[in-house]
Amino acid sequence: MNEGRGHKRFREVMRPAFDASVVAGSFLPDIAAIVAGALEAAAAAGGPVSGYGAMKRLTFEVIMNVMMGKAYPPAEVDRLHHLFNEFTAGMASFPQMDLPFLPYGKAMSARRQLLDIFDRDMAAARAAAAEGRPVAGQLGIMISALDEDGNTLMDDRAVKEILLGLLFAGHDTTSTSLTRLIATLHDHPEVTEKLRREQEVLVEKHGRGVSPGLMRDMVYADAVIRESMRLNPVTNELFRSAIRDFEMGGVRVPAGASISLPMATVTASDPRWAGKTGEMDPNVFNPERMLTPEGLKPGDQMPFGHGGRHCLGVHLAMAEMKAFLALMGQGYRIEADTNTEWQYGVGRVPKNGLPMVVTRL
Ligand code: HEM
Repeated sequence: MNEGRGHKRFREVMRPAFDASVVAGSFLPDIAAIVAGALEAAAAAGGPVSGYGAMKRLTFEVIMNVMMGKAYPPAEVDRLHHLFNEFTAGMASFPQMDLPFLPYGKAMSARRQLLDIFDRDMAAARAAAAEGRPVAGQLGIMISALDEDGNTLMDDRAVKEILLGLLFAGHDTTSTSLTRLIATLHDHPEVTEKLRREQEVLVEKHGRGVSPGLMRDMVYADAVIRESMRLNPVTNELFRSAIRDFEMGGVRVPAGASISLPMATVTASDPRWAGKTGEMDPNVFNPERMLTPEGLKPGDQMPFGHGGRHCLGVHLAMAEMKAFLALMGQGYRIEADTNTEWQYGVGRVPKNGLPMVVTRL
């Protein structure tokens, strides 16, 4: 499904499940409940918890829920998350021998256990569909997708591989972004204060909690997220192959050449900010720049890529981050230990795990 027509078809099938209106209409209540649960759990701890760990757990629960169209009990979320972490920790380790005492063998065992759970849930979903009952989530879309001749488009193996791929694409990317957001807000209390004031106004209009209307009106929070991701994109580079010869900036690029687009550099040298000083210095965290006519121009969301491979989960990820800022702004204070190194993981992740103390306001 990664190349050419297969990839195009994959996007056609999956796009409806990621549409902004579907995220706002179908997924938002569960996302809000998961975010609220994570904030409450951190507050109930009464002391420091790992901010990065909490965000990984939160985004894992969201992506499982959205993919499979159902809520898993907390203990099962923990078990699935543990399996996924074990899989990702060892999958690239050497030697690549499937032996139970090697990290690679442990990763393969975790992968098999995850796929068994997908099998179990897929069988239940297919049985429900056969009885004419609706199957929610992306799983529902995949098992009911048909090819041009009206045959089932994806067999169980294809569905499982895509589910695993979505776990990769949609989990750590969002937790890294949320973790960085928490750290950035800790270091910019004046921005946190503005977010809180925005919530006060929006709660007057829409009521407490998270609703599609409130999310739509979170203009400042939206700018804060986009600015945080401009400075700290999860993916440093986008990769493409030239499909024909072309010339750019005096450099001739032949068809078939591999092209890397360094996102952070491109963003910093964006003519909208390049060479500016003071508040508009490209290296300064300044959400206000995203509210200027230049900042509001489409196309600045490069952290989610661009064009035919633009991130399918952009609305889902934005909904998770905005729901987090909404509920934080309405009821919690977060103190984080930002005195840490940011090391390579999925994007840059805090070496100290970003200990944070969450208190109810
Ligand atoms: C803050 C969180 C996220 C970031 C920063 C992010 C970033 C990206 C980037 C940079 C790409 C490559 C785009 C390109 O090459 O032009 C991508 C692709 C993709 N993302 Fe995300 N993503 C995030 C969240 C999600 C979520 C929640 C999902 C949902 C499952 C998701 C699903 C995908 C998929 C399926 C693709 C492949 C699209 C294709 O090849 O056609 N992403 N993402």
